Amino acid sequence: MGSILEDPRFAGIEPFKTKLWLASPTMHGDEQKWVDDAIRTNWVSTVGVNINEVEKQIAEYVDVKYAVALSAGTAALHLATKLAGEKLYGQAKPNEGTLVGHRVFCSDVTFDASINPVAYEDGEAVFIDTEHDTWNMCPKALEKAFETYSEVKLIVVAHLYGTPGKMEEIKAIADRHGALIVEDAAESLGAKYLLNGKWVETGALGNYNCISFNGNKIITGSAGGMFLTDSKEDADKVRKWSTQSREAAPWYQHEEVGYNYRMSNIVAGVVRGQMPFLDEHIAQKKAIYERYKEGLKDLPVKMNPFDASKSEPNYWLSCMIIDEEAMAPMVRGEQDYLYKSEPGKSSPHEILDAFATFNVEGRPIWKPMHMQPIYRTHAFITTEGNGRGRSNAYIAGSGIDVGADIFRRGLCLPSDNKMTAEQQDRVIEIIHRSFL
Ligand SMILES: Cc1ncc(COP(=O)(O)O)c(C=O)c1O
Repeated sequence: MGSILEDPRFAGIEPFKTKLWLASPTMHGDEQKWVDDAIRTNWVSTVGVNINEVEKQIAEYVDVKYAVALSAGTAALHLATKLAGEKLYGQAKPNEGTLVGHRVFCSDVTFDASINPVAYEDGEAVFIDTEHDTWNMCPKALEKAFETYSEVKLIVVAHLYGTPGKMEEIKAIADRHGALIVEDAAESLGAKYLLNGKWVETGALGNYNCISFNGNKIITGSAGGMFLTDSKEDADKVRKWSTQSREAAPWYQHEEVGYNYRMSNIVAGVVRGQMPFLDEHIAQKKAIYERYKEGLKDLPVKMNPFDASKSEPNYWLSCMIIDEEAMAPMVRGEQDYLYKSEPGKSSPHEILDAFATFNVEGRPIWKPMHMQPIYRTHAFITTEGNGRGRSNAYIAGSGIDVGADIFRRGLCLPSDNKMTAEQQDRVIEIIHRSFL
């Protein structure tokens, strides 16, 4: 077949003149004011009023006692993971991570920044399969993992695309096994979860909690992240580590390894300008999710699911998953893919190629960590136990792998909060035509 533009199925659809983004920053004006303030007053460093103010505002919003502003969500996750490692296994030598020789149970369908800190700290990630209800860590697979690795004391949990995972079950399992939780709420700031009858913000559900202000997040600082906690001691430690672990001496004195991870007062100015718009952004993202849901309801697809009785997502990214019966043939290599069009069916790459042709950004579902070349030698646990090596011709077994299934059939849709209803309708039309 020639180009998609010549494909009669797409006749009459015009490419967008300017690109429709997955999730781009949305500035409102006050960001400039707070950045200018920092420059005018010469507080252009990793101290200043903007930093103090955003720490206070986020702590209030998420309802935690302390927020420590850092250079990135990844920095927050690193220090959270290190803190957990030190709590569990003691202070490490300067040339060793705190998790050396220890396994950590990790979310599998997530961005690799969630779980790379386990490797930074010399630990070994063991990936826990995903459930179909919220696309997050499966509590049943987690329980199964403790059958094999009963010694594990740390769990890293992410809330994918702004949808809270099954935290009540996960926390109960962690408590039963005396394990701590690092919570990655990078994508879910503003999402709420009903924990044992009480609504709690994501970012306040673990023992060590992290958020991100990356440019694509629900609010942004252009970059940045935060560590959130109710423990003053933990907050102080993270603040110390993030500013090169200086001791209270007149000279540079160091008793532990340090990092240059503190947020800049300029970045904090952008976050400060964004804070008043967090709820507005969530409302816009929710409207986008609902418009897709309505517009796609006649197709053999479903939206990324959530448990409405127990959670209120922040709807950061709208995604869809194609029903198995409506999946057209598609294969993926390491960096390439191939698909075939079939009437009444489609595939993520057929739709993503159509998006690209019409100047729309979409994206495959985050590729599960257990399928990533870097982590292929790491254990992967499903509801059936060991998820590795189940495709041998002589071994019977269903080979359940929920993460691989969502990755194969799902895709992320443009979810930019500046997208108009008319623009979104054209995206919905492109998806419909892909199934012709
Ligand atoms: C789930 C998840 N964790 C961590 C991160 C890392 O955050 P940052 O980009 O602020 O380092 C991101 C996104 O960037 C993310 O989506």
